[in-house]
Amino acid sequence: MIEAVTKGFKETFGYEPAGVWSAPGRANLIGEHTDYNEGFVLPFGIDKRTYVALSPRSDSICRVSSDIDGNTYQTDLSSKPVGLDWALYPLGVAWVMREWSKGGFDAYFTSNVPVGSGLSSSAAIECSIAVALNEIWSAGRTKQQLALIGQRAENDVVGAPTGMMDQTASMLAEADSAVFLDCQSLEAKPVSLNLEAHDLVVAVIDTRVAHRHSDGGYRVRRESCERGADILGVSSLRGLSVADLPRAEAELSEVDFRRVRHVITENQRVLDTLEALKNSDLERLGELLLASHASMAKDFEISIDELDLAVEVAMQSGAVGSRMTGGGFGGAAIAVINKNLLGSLEANCKAAFDKAGYLEPKIFPVVPSAGARRDR
Ligand code: GLA
Repeated sequence: MIEAVTKGFKETFGYEPAGVWSAPGRANLIGEHTDYNEGFVLPFGIDKRTYVALSPRSDSICRVSSDIDGNTYQTDLSSKPVGLDWALYPLGVAWVMREWSKGGFDAYFTSNVPVGSGLSSSAAIECSIAVALNEIWSAGRTKQQLALIGQRAENDVVGAPTGMMDQTASMLAEADSAVFLDCQSLEAKPVSLNLEAHDLVVAVIDTRVAHRHSDGGYRVRRESCERGADILGVSSLRGLSVADLPRAEAELSEVDFRRVRHVITENQRVLDTLEALKNSDLERLGELLLASHASMAKDFEISIDELDLAVEVAMQSGAVGSRMTGGGFGGAAIAVINKNLLGSLEANCKAAFDKAGYLEPKIFPVVPSAGARRDR
C-alpha cells in the first residue's frame, strides 16, 4: 500500500511525495457510547489502515485526492471547509490545525478500512493526516493531542457529535493490545489481549448495513445521556455508579433511564473486562461481551436485526463472546472465537443472513495493530 499510495500521489500531482504516513481503523472490544460520557473504553487498532502520501506546498493551497472517487478537492485554509464529500475529514483536520500551518499541501489517500462498517474509516483518515501535518508543520502535538484534533474535525467541521474513542484508538494503538482509555482523565494504557496464546482471534462480522453518525440516532442518544446527568446533578454520567440506578429510575423518564443504565453498567463492564483479561477468564469475558450487546440492544436501542443475528450465529458457532461494535444503527459485530472455527462462523453467518433475506455479510479476522505512524 505504501507503493500504491506513492504511485497515486505521483500520478495525481506529478511529483514525488515528501513522505507516507498511515493510521489504522479500530474495533472496540467493549465500552460503547461511554466516551462522550467521560467513561471507559477498550478499543484496538486493526490491521486495516489508511495511507496518505503528502508533500508541503509553498503557497496556501491544500489539495486532497484518493483512489475512492478519483476527484481532487481543494481548499486554502482561509475559510472553514464545507461539503467536499470524504475530503471533509482530512481538510477538516487541516482546518483545525491551521494555527500551525506553514502553507498548504498535496495529499493522496488510499485505504483498506471498510467504509460505513463501524470500523472508523473516518478516524483512520483523520489520524493519518494529523500525524503527517504534525510533522511537516512542526506542530509538536502529542499523539493524544492529535487524537483530540481529529475529534474536533469530526465535531466542528463534519458535524458528527462523536466522542474521542476512535481517534484515540487509531493514534495510540499497539500491536497485540487494546487501549484502555479513561475518557475523563484521558489516561490511556495498553492492555495485552494475549489472544494467540488461547488460539483466539477477533472476527468482524460486517453486516454491510451502512451507518452515519451525523444523522439523528447518535445525537438523540447523546442528548438523553446529557439530560440524565443534568437531572441527576452530575457533570457527566461518569459521576454515577450502579448504586445510583434506583435513584436514576425514580427521577428520569423511562427511556432516559434505560439510556443512562446502559452507560453506567457499560462502564462497569469495561472494568470487569480488564479483570477477566488479566485472569485469562474467557468465560467471564464472553459473558461481559454478551451483556454489553444485550444492553445496547435493549437499553440503548442502537442494534439492528442483522447485528443481533450476527451475535446469535457467532455464539452458535462456538464464539467465546460477541457483540456489536462501534456506534450502532448498522456496521459490524465482533466475535472472539477460536481461529479454527473461523470457516464455520463465516459459512453459518452467510447461510443465516441469506435465510433472513439480509445482504451477504463479510466475515474476516482483525489483528490488533500499531497506531498512526510514518511509513516512509
Ligand atoms: C462512534 C463514535 C465514538 C463512540 C462510538 C460508540 O464510533 O465515533 O466516539 O461514541 O460511536 O461507542
